[in-house]
Amino acid sequence: MLRTAPGYETAVKVAPAGRLLGELALPGDKSISHRALMLALLANGESRISGAGDGADVRSTAGIAKALGARIDRQPGEVGNVDYTVTATGGAGLRRPSGVLDCANSGTSLRLFAGIVAGHPVEAILDGDASLRQRPMARIIEPLSAMGARVEGARDGRPPLVVAGRRRLQPIDWQTPVPSAQVKSAILLAGLSATGTTRVRESVATRDHTERMLQARGVAVRTTVAADGGAIVEIDGPAVMSTVDERVPGDPSAAAFWLVAAAIHPEADLLLRRVGVNPTRRAALDFLSLMGAAIDELPADEASPGRVGEPFADLRVRSSDLRAIQLMPADTARAIDEVPILCLAATQARGRTVIRGAGELRHKESDRIAGIVAGLSALGARISVDGDDITIDGPTALRGAVVDSLNDHRLALTFAIAGLVAEGPTTVLGADSADISYPTFFADLERIRS
Ligand code: S3P
Repeated sequence: MLRTAPGYETAVKVAPAGRLLGELALPGDKSISHRALMLALLANGESRISGAGDGADVRSTAGIAKALGARIDRQPGEVGNVDYTVTATGGAGLRRPSGVLDCANSGTSLRLFAGIVAGHPVEAILDGDASLRQRPMARIIEPLSAMGARVEGARDGRPPLVVAGRRRLQPIDWQTPVPSAQVKSAILLAGLSATGTTRVRESVATRDHTERMLQARGVAVRTTVAADGGAIVEIDGPAVMSTVDERVPGDPSAAAFWLVAAAIHPEADLLLRRVGVNPTRRAALDFLSLMGAAIDELPADEASPGRVGEPFADLRVRSSDLRAIQLMPADTARAIDEVPILCLAATQARGRTVIRGAGELRHKESDRIAGIVAGLSALGARISVDGDDITIDGPTALRGAVVDSLNDHRLALTFAIAGLVAEGPTTVLGADSADISYPTFFADLERIRS
């Protein structure tokens, strides 16, 4: 099953599946797991986080929270997740880290910690791997500098970033240049240390976990709908945070791989347990339903202790007859992490799918537009790009091939799912990148396939 390929740690060969049947519990939501650790660092006292994802990105965040002064106890949780107990006095000030804060592949760690450090009188260097060093940071350097922190990037605003924070920042009123929950969150986290109201305006409402989680910890955060349909988020500072115990829902972005797998496979019936269905994260689920995917949303154990403002549900998904969909740029922004797997769904849907305004995908862990077009084309799909718009004609019978994930977890998982329906084996290069968000993915795949 596993073998190495030149330039990659692992390649995984996926054979077509006869059936996809069974029940899966997902990794804890990556976005929420990051934030739960970060907010625990900023609160005084003990926070318990159960069911956090154990992907490499969240592990980077835990390491950085520790370097900034939190005491972190990690215990194995259910289904490969982790239960953390975090003890911190972050409200009273962060510890100056002794070394570079290594965010590895994680943009969320780098951007959100930049906002956190900006609001404390410490200096830190935030760095990452070759992929993260390619990613644009001007979008956080500019607002955090306007608030009074000193933030310097390397060549053309790329990491490593040197952030020298201050105990009191200026509030700002900021329109984000592209819809980005990471940018919004960095500003809101810095806003905790500003004197007055910090306001972030975004043209499309992005995931609102930071807002919900701050509110659950007693911080005044308000969201209103702007005249253009976007969102205006305000936070009043300076603010102190209380500790909470939080149970992390399953990651809807991880669930999307199985939703598509079952929908496009002729003999499939999967039950996904405790999936987060926050309205700002469920766009892919809704688009798949619009495409005709047979998905039932069932109430999960709603009374779970420690649930803090994040809805979740069980999702049952069965083999489906899909039809094409047209996504406008605002739709694409709301399903930004799920675009690769939606492209795979579109290859099996009747008609022409157009995904408009996908340019931001070029700035993720890899150039995901280039990666998805190359990979799906190698598998026989009819896919093309015009500017920032992706067009896919379907349905097309896929045939197994060697496909390059560019060491990007979302591409690796998309191509592995394609391998389940393709004719003949599919070899996914760089498949170990699954560890970034979904370390148990290939074990789960083996469990539900026959
Ligand atoms: C994330 C926000 C998104 C997403 C990323 C996680 C977050 O990035 O792509 O995987 O946790 O805030 P942008 O906000 O930059 O689009």
